[in-house]
Amino acid sequence: MDRRRFLQLATTGAGAMALPTGLLRAQPGVELEARAATLDPGRGDSLVWTINGRLPSPTLRVRQGDHLRARLVNRLQEPTILHWHGLTAPPEADGHPRLAIPAGAHYDYDFRVTDTPGTYWYHPHPHRRTAIQTHLGIAGFLIVEGDEGVDLPGGQFDLPLLLQDRRVAGDGSFSYSPSGPDLMLGFLGNTGFVNGQPLPTIDVQRARYRLRLLNGCNARILNLQLDPDPGMVAIAADGGLLPAAARIGRLMMGPAERVDILVDFSSLAEGTEVALDSAGFSIPGMMTGPMGGARGAMAGGGQGAPLPLARFRVGGAPLEPAAELPALLRQLAPITDVGALPTRQFRFESAMMRHAINGREFEMDRVDVRVGLDRPELWSFINDSALPHPVHVHLGAFRVVDRRGGRGVLMPWETGTKDTVLVWPGERVDVRVHFREHAGLYLLHCHNLEHEDAGMMANFEVVDPAGI
Ligand code: C2O
Ligand code: CU
Ligand code: CU
Repeated sequence: MDRRRFLQLATTGAGAMALPTGLLRAQPGVELEARAATLDPGRGDSLVWTINGRLPSPTLRVRQGDHLRARLVNRLQEPTILHWHGLTAPPEADGHPRLAIPAGAHYDYDFRVTDTPGTYWYHPHPHRRTAIQTHLGIAGFLIVEGDEGVDLPGGQFDLPLLLQDRRVAGDGSFSYSPSGPDLMLGFLGNTGFVNGQPLPTIDVQRARYRLRLLNGCNARILNLQLDPDPGMVAIAADGGLLPAAARIGRLMMGPAERVDILVDFSSLAEGTEVALDSAGFSIPGMMTGPMGGARGAMAGGGQGAPLPLARFRVGGAPLEPAAELPALLRQLAPITDVGALPTRQFRFESAMMRHAINGREFEMDRVDVRVGLDRPELWSFINDSALPHPVHVHLGAFRVVDRRGGRGVLMPWETGTKDTVLVWPGERVDVRVHFREHAGLYLLHCHNLEHEDAGMMANFEVVDPAGI
């Protein structure tokens, strides 16, 4: 059967100024063609790597309980594979680098999506090439739809925003060309991109919006703020709704983290422009290197330097006031078994241009950890380096239990379920993992993509205790 016949295209209502967020229904099947293209994202022509010729990659929507059916066609000049970040996918559909397909080949995905409705994403995962492929443009939202049990803004008021930084040259082109310091600190750009466009202006109405924020940067931590600030209310993170909505002032997100916020533009006068940027910050104990840090900011700056991302332009008459949120957004079982869980420690070490976990760099065929299926464990991520590490675990969501040394507190957006957690220098973050479905080989890694490609990644195998 010709899968192309099933390709369904729709448009998203992303405000009057259409941001390029093409939308594909993952049901009953989509073709995702990885290929190079020359596009002008807003500053001039650039060679980009795309899915289906688009920047950013198309937003996929799939209903909880439905199958995600997709065919990846590799029209790049090198191996690739796609990973569904945050989903509980069976091992053959998880995009492990050992599954990378050569140029010209294709790979079929077909699995039932069981994860909680929320904001997920997809990106390439071939070993040592994840950073370049993602940076040059292959990254998109994957939104799991379903009954969230709460009345939230939908349709054009549900706005996914993919936040990235790129190093744009005078002619508007960008490329991926890391030098020595970039391989240590991660590749940081000088220009903010939102949904594939540099510093776009996004028209919004005087209404309440759900902004689905994804830090899609290779290495940059974002410290988001709105100016003027109509109020940011965090309602969801990596794995769906938070237990309760939380009013926040600034939002610090490491690479690969998602936070959904509600923003009500109705109190602002028509014509108001609201800037979305990453405010400057410093992390105690952080190595800044020759290129960066909040102080030594070059053009666009190093980690912690301020970075403008976009502006919202408020228009139109105020719409109906939005309904009050219930006090309880999501019922999550309290974590009561921490003291009784088997524990493991993962030390993240960056020194002398090496990035390792527990002293070892990734090897494709070495299983570093074996975990029982449906056997919860307490994992400690310990940052033994002078660089921040956004730590990500495949195969669904975990709960963040504790953070010590450094900030010493869980952020409001860490109170639900997560699949990526930011660990500052000197911090130790404990998470409760529980792999309920799918025995097989999965990954744990730093989501600073330069660190990941350098080997700050480990294989874990989920084994069925009943089967041993
Ligand atoms: Cu978003 Cu293994 O990655
Ligand atoms: Cu992932
Ligand atoms: Cu790292």
